[in-house]
Amino acid sequence: MNIHTTSTSTLERVPAELRKWLSVPRPMLINGKWVQAKSGKVFDVIDPATEMHLATVAEGDAADIDEAVRAARNALDNGPWGRMSPSARGRIVHKIGDLILKYLDELAQLESLDNGKPFAVARVADVPLSADIFHYMSGWATKLEGKHIPISNLVSPGQYLSFTRLEPVGVVGQIIPWNFPLLMAAWKLAPALATGCTVVLKVAEETPLSGLRLGEILQEAGVPDGVVNIVPGFGETAGAALASHPGVAKVAFTGSTDVGRLIVQAASRDLRKVSLELGGKSPNIILDDADIEAAIAGSTAGIFFNHGQCCNAGSRLFVQEKVFDKVVSGIAANAAKIKLGVGMDAATEMGPMVSDVQHGRVKGYLKCGLEEGARAVTGGSAPDGKGYFVNPTVLVDTKPDMKVVREEIFGPVLVAIPFKEVDEKLIATANDTIYGLAAGVWSRDIAKANQLANALKAGSVWVNCYHVFDAALPFGGYKQSGWGREMGQAVLSNYLEAKAITSRIA
Ligand code: NAI
Ligand code: MG
Repeated sequence: MNIHTTSTSTLERVPAELRKWLSVPRPMLINGKWVQAKSGKVFDVIDPATEMHLATVAEGDAADIDEAVRAARNALDNGPWGRMSPSARGRIVHKIGDLILKYLDELAQLESLDNGKPFAVARVADVPLSADIFHYMSGWATKLEGKHIPISNLVSPGQYLSFTRLEPVGVVGQIIPWNFPLLMAAWKLAPALATGCTVVLKVAEETPLSGLRLGEILQEAGVPDGVVNIVPGFGETAGAALASHPGVAKVAFTGSTDVGRLIVQAASRDLRKVSLELGGKSPNIILDDADIEAAIAGSTAGIFFNHGQCCNAGSRLFVQEKVFDKVVSGIAANAAKIKLGVGMDAATEMGPMVSDVQHGRVKGYLKCGLEEGARAVTGGSAPDGKGYFVNPTVLVDTKPDMKVVREEIFGPVLVAIPFKEVDEKLIATANDTIYGLAAGVWSRDIAKANQLANALKAGSVWVNCYHVFDAALPFGGYKQSGWGREMGQAVLSNYLEAKAITSRIA
């Protein structure tokens, strides 16, 4: 395995200005002010490639969340935000997108240091996609239209005028994970701002840095004080306090299915509205009539992009018997060539897992899969030395009830399973999961591919491609992959209440 390790801090590879920003304990954003935690507590942020200290960040808990929620309420009720025209609001949201592009390199550096992903990837994917969702959502601010609705019951025509008005749901609590720290903040904040809500955002404890930098960018774009409050902290304290705060009208969460359940429990007392974007174990199906080279390349990226730390990763590969060996050896050959290393190193193609905990989790799955009889065509282990690296792995000879087949691994581990025919059995096997986030189909027969796409129980299906995202396309899950959709027009309903107003006019 090619691995570039380093004994020096990766901080040395970023500009002095960014190093300086990282050298001060990073405060949280509440009511337009950058403040330390009320408790005075801080926590350490670790570089996952070197296990060295990267930054110190204020550790928010229930007291900080409470103050942030009050600030968000006040900003909605008494600040300029609630009275701002949709056009002015839209222009601010658009400007956030412009500024993200202005700070493209800096944000990509921060993302690479904090999460471990290659700088080059963050620069072409995470950061531009983050700008894109603000640009896309800015247009919706002026298009949140209700409807005039003719009514029939108990009235004669013309007696009443009825219409709907779309109003912001109120103060929104948003909790995000560490796999795409900036992008997840952007997916959450952009629609909330476009619809006129105010927000308390809890960034992930593993990767708080780009979210905090985004807070500065929001201020530069002219987001009024208190409209977005950003509190770094741990899930069990800050996250739980936000999910159960009576002043929060709606909670939007992305993360594990287990914590999704806790969010629902916390919200249930006050019947707070909840949207959830959770785990996946997505089937990626290659038919024997596919363009095999394209399928190999696309399926390699389908599992290994972002080190497999994608909720929509194509982690269960189904390949038709005739081409199984060719496809598996092709993907395994690609996997074996992937260069592991420090994200800031230009030669690096795959960084480390985000944390010690995630590293342990993925290694645990590998051990369990191999003990249960799966065979690693490539990978199957973690390299020695510093950093939370895992060798890209392709497992075969699995059984349907193995943990590696059933559970979300969230690491660079693919299970490859042969199938005979494109029939009901294939569809049933592909759908045999508690999840339903995404799926892939590779075939030259567009009718067959679309029949499969219709039969798969998943929120996104990619045909002859994988991981194609767009701000205009809804994204979210069937079954235990979540509630509601992110992005596109579909996300707006998460943040709006429709009010029906009826006036007697005769
Ligand atoms: P997690 O679900 O614990 O963390 C996600 C966010 O939820 C973080 O901001 C965390 O602080 C917060 N959180 C944790 N416990 C909470 C609680 N009790 N109340 C409120 N907020 C809470 O995910 P974790 O532990 O980082 O990863 C575990 C597994 O979850 C991964 O192995 C992966 O399978 C899955 N996952 C899925 C993601 C997705 O994009 N859908 C993203 C990250 C993880
Ligand atoms: Mg957790």
